[in-house]
Amino acid sequence: VKEPVRVLVTGAAGQIGYALVPMIARGVMLGADQPVILHMLDIPPAAEALNGVKMELVDAAFPLLKGVVATTDVVEACTGVNVAVMVGGFPRKEGMERKDVMSKNVSIYKSQASALEQHAAPNCKVLVVANPANTNALILKEFAPSIPAKNITCLTRLDHNRALGQISEKLNVQVSDVKNVIIWGNHSSSQYPDVNHATVMTPSGEKPVRELVKDDAWLNGEFITTVQQRGAAIIKARKLSSALSAASAACDHIRDWVLGTPEGTWVSMGVYSDGSYNAPAGVIYSFPVTCKNGEWTIVQGLAIDEFSRKKLDLTGQELTEEKELAYSCLS
Ligand code: NAI
Repeated sequence: VKEPVRVLVTGAAGQIGYALVPMIARGVMLGADQPVILHMLDIPPAAEALNGVKMELVDAAFPLLKGVVATTDVVEACTGVNVAVMVGGFPRKEGMERKDVMSKNVSIYKSQASALEQHAAPNCKVLVVANPANTNALILKEFAPSIPAKNITCLTRLDHNRALGQISEKLNVQVSDVKNVIIWGNHSSSQYPDVNHATVMTPSGEKPVRELVKDDAWLNGEFITTVQQRGAAIIKARKLSSALSAASAACDHIRDWVLGTPEGTWVSMGVYSDGSYNAPAGVIYSFPVTCKNGEWTIVQGLAIDEFSRKKLDLTGQELTEEKELAYSCLS
């Protein structure tokens, strides 16, 4: 029997938290044979709601769920965790300046970084979901210097999955037959969803998406803007932001990171940039990665055409500006 893995979910009383914790407790994130202990953190105004989520987890009688810690104490929440999914954050409210939102999140991620650094299990893997996801992850990295940079990532898998979904709808093929799209850069509307290396499994073998779609205007236009603006379209339709798809993507991200990507397949993850593909170094930038033995590696050597180059640079520029804004909040 496997030892339980401790999984922290911050912001667990929120929308994504509510969709995510049952997935984790069912083994969607770490496998159907992996027992888990859930650590759920939220802030005092949400304590009662958080306790309600805990009651429901008990009521669901999940066989893999070996314990639940529901708390508003960040140290208790972080103690001994092997995986940390950071969903809690300060949302942008009407009339708020970008800098005010950044400032709130910088202070949250700075203090949670210290708690993780001091109390999480060694080699804890961290996934930041809360927006601005890339820059929150960067702040977490900067203020948890003893956690290896490789262990701190942000979620762009939802954007990646949205891109797979759009291609599958366009071609009327199974989404599971589409692979190797790439999300470059920031989890924001400046992200670049790139299909230049994506393929579809067909009865006559693997074919490039560009060859099958035969509609460059769509691929270079509407496809990109649909993926970039999908979050806003969900809000418009649901009056709430994406939650089930975000939770599912968070499970995909951690599962592939821990258990590995299938041979010949890559996924998109926001990771600490080493300057690959001339992306700015020292920001959390989304790249194509493969995972093996619990470690991600950026896929190297993909050709970047002129159209793509501009888009990689634009989203990189935005991340550099966000980094500067975040640092200006610290001083
Ligand atoms: P929500 O507002 O329903 O839940 C957020 C929860 O975080 C609330 O329960 C709140 O009390 C809690 N919280 C606030 N400050 C906290 C702190 N310091 N420590 C612990 N918990 C804290 O929001 P929702 O819809 O669940 O979204 C969560 C975040 O995920 C948002 O920042 C959203 O923008 C982001 N998001 C990111 C996506 C991605 O692909 N990277 C996709 C969708 C959402």
